[in-house]
Amino acid sequence: MDRKKNISMAVIKRLPKYYRYLMELLKNDVDRISSKELSEKIGFTASQIRQDLNCFGDFGQQGYGYNVKELYNQISGILGLQKDYNTVIIGAGNLGQAIANYTRFNKLGFNLKGIFDANPKLVGIRIRDVDIADIDEMPEFLKHNSIDIGIICVPQTNAQKVCDMLVEGGVKGIWNFAPIDLAVPEGVITENVHLSESLLTLVYLLNEGN
Ligand code: NAI
Repeated sequence: MDRKKNISMAVIKRLPKYYRYLMELLKNDVDRISSKELSEKIGFTASQIRQDLNCFGDFGQQGYGYNVKELYNQISGILGLQKDYNTVIIGAGNLGQAIANYTRFNKLGFNLKGIFDANPKLVGIRIRDVDIADIDEMPEFLKHNSIDIGIICVPQTNAQKVCDMLVEGGVKGIWNFAPIDLAVPEGVITENVHLSESLLTLVYLLNEGN
């Protein structure tokens, strides 16, 4: 299925959740599911689900539900998961190493090709099947390897510098964990992850109604 422009960010943000639940249903050999049943599982309303999926075309038949495999494949295609992506991690400290060790990204088609750090004590250490390399080697590495996504796990103070190196090396997707809004040229996409935001949401909900 072609991806369409002008889909709202709110819908785009819900797609990974659909994907995750549909994968679960597939694993449990569920062939068909109604929007009502899906809504009970996912926690979005049935009409929300129908509206979301209508943005991308005509899935499911009235009164007959969705074919799980078909919907899974379609959403996978919409998300762009029909191909693999090459990634590098910059900053092999606590977070960088945890991400490098998380094998599920690999199963989703994200292939870790390089890990870079500025600390000579870390250089040469192997994480899964990738040796940590010196950050100074990254520009040359990027010249010879087509990398889609750079994962930034360095301290805030060095994040922009590292981001610039990635952009210079042709990387178009930046997955940023440093607590800073990065400046990137047009055509480069950044996605920030802040665990603390999720934690603060939890705290708000804990205190709601108090
Ligand atoms: P850490 O200190 O364990 O690791 C940082 C690593 O970056 C170190 O190994 C250091 O040598 C390396 N480094 C520093 N400058 C570099 C450069 N110019 N090039 C290459 N490597 C460089 O820190 P930790 O705990 O792993 O956190 C890393 C980043 O992630 C920090 O910015 C932190 O604030 C952020 N963080 C974000 C979270 C989130 O929810 N988004 C959660 C935890 C950490």
